[in-house]
Amino acid sequence: MDCLGKKLHVKKPTMKRYFIHTFGCQMNVYDSLRMGELLAPMGYCPTPTPEEADLILLNTCSIREKAEDKLLSALGRYRLIKLMRGAWIGVGGCVAQQEKEKLLKKAPFVDFIFGTDAVKKLPEILKALEETGKPIIETAWEEAAHYAFLKAEGETSRGKASEFITIMKGCDNLCAYCVVPHTRGREISRPHEEVLAQAQSLLSVGVRELTLLGQNVNSYAGGISFAELLLRVAKLPGLKRLRFTTSHPRDLSAELVEAFRVEPKIAPHIHLPVQSGSDAVLKRMRRNYTASAYMELLAKLRAARPDIAVTTDIIVGFPGEREADFEKTLELTEKARFDGQFSFVFSARPKTLAALKEEEWGKLPHEVKIERLERLQALQKQISAELFQREIGGVAKVLVEGNSKQNPGRLYGKTPQNRTVNFEGEAKVGELVDIDIIRSSSSALFGKRLGSAHAIEETRAQMPLHSVFQPVS
Ligand code: SAH
Ligand code: SF4
Ligand code: F3S
Repeated sequence: MDCLGKKLHVKKPTMKRYFIHTFGCQMNVYDSLRMGELLAPMGYCPTPTPEEADLILLNTCSIREKAEDKLLSALGRYRLIKLMRGAWIGVGGCVAQQEKEKLLKKAPFVDFIFGTDAVKKLPEILKALEETGKPIIETAWEEAAHYAFLKAEGETSRGKASEFITIMKGCDNLCAYCVVPHTRGREISRPHEEVLAQAQSLLSVGVRELTLLGQNVNSYAGGISFAELLLRVAKLPGLKRLRFTTSHPRDLSAELVEAFRVEPKIAPHIHLPVQSGSDAVLKRMRRNYTASAYMELLAKLRAARPDIAVTTDIIVGFPGEREADFEKTLELTEKARFDGQFSFVFSARPKTLAALKEEEWGKLPHEVKIERLERLQALQKQISAELFQREIGGVAKVLVEGNSKQNPGRLYGKTPQNRTVNFEGEAKVGELVDIDIIRSSSSALFGKRLGSAHAIEETRAQMPLHSVFQPVS
């Protein structure tokens, strides 16, 4: 039997162990799970520590320079394991796709490089490596007409409350700063029948929340519109919450806003990256919307779903960003009242327009970028803290995900708005529970499970007001 409980295909099985180090976005997390599924029939089982591995895979990200630096330092550590145990090292993902053989020059001890379309070739690559022992580079794009998405095994997700489904790959936008179109290739949508079948298989093993994944889900073209896909997945039995990421503001349709209004299973949260509050910067970024169009979109979403929480991504220090441009980002942040922001300093990426034009548009000194990032993050922290504090004294419906790593002894889960709640009390993974919120920070809520909603009301009525509404330390 392999690690997924299936009959092994190899003749003389020897137990081998693999370790996957995943960098970057949820798409890489998804791909790493598929790598494990491809390795299982070859007799490989996962190990939590690289020191015990016969095969070490790095699934890489090249969105910013820092991500690549992290890869090189991790490779340095794994090289020592290779020297001690003779483990094979394979590098996949976005850096592999972009750097190809150049990566072998930087790290000649790497045994194979496999690009983002080559995940499914992993068994072939390993067999060839066993036979020849020679380095392998496999970074060709799969032809769009024949592109097949790797099917996920339901078993991999047993015991999880929430799971992702990749519904498309690649990106056809050309945002000036972004490396993704180079690392993931052209946009290809997964046929909706396949998405629905995969959703069903995940729900059948007990998953309760699904997140549909794509770099630009609003341009989904798998036979039905994205809004229609959401409405169909939402109807599947067993599903409690449906999420998706990422939406491009330019492509967000009226039909999607309407789906938020009519379908309660679509959770009231949207991640809608704005990138900048300055129209001049947005134009150079090639985002094709203005700050006011973005704010109008938020107003529409909030009218359709008044409890919707919005999170965003922002790049500061884009080439040519003046102080006045940056102040517009601060203004937009104030007005939009985001639940949270992922903000980054601009990093010039190979082959992107912004990297080519950096000098011409005006390269910003590193200190200026950092100083702006700190100002923006301080403002957002204050807004998030205010929004989260408002939840104190209320009851949140939390989908339980597991034990909290940061808060030992507590469980954690998410509210419909995707806010993390750490709580005391008993609950099962995948259960929807009522949690009395008693404390907050700028990134999480803290509470107690007091039993049924009825019991919570009774307890609250008996408590002096200040003990309910005052944060406890
Ligand atoms: N497809 C998503 C973005 C994926 S990348 C979308 O269109 O929204 C995630 C985030 O990384 C981006 O939203 C952007 O804020 C940031 N990012 C991308 N390229 C970057 C770069 N060159 N420098 C700094 N941040 C970058
Ligand atoms: Fe990158 Fe833009 Fe595509 Fe997002 S939409 S992946 S930022 S090119
Ligand atoms: Fe990184 Fe590639 Fe995702 S560059 S953010 S891992 S698509």
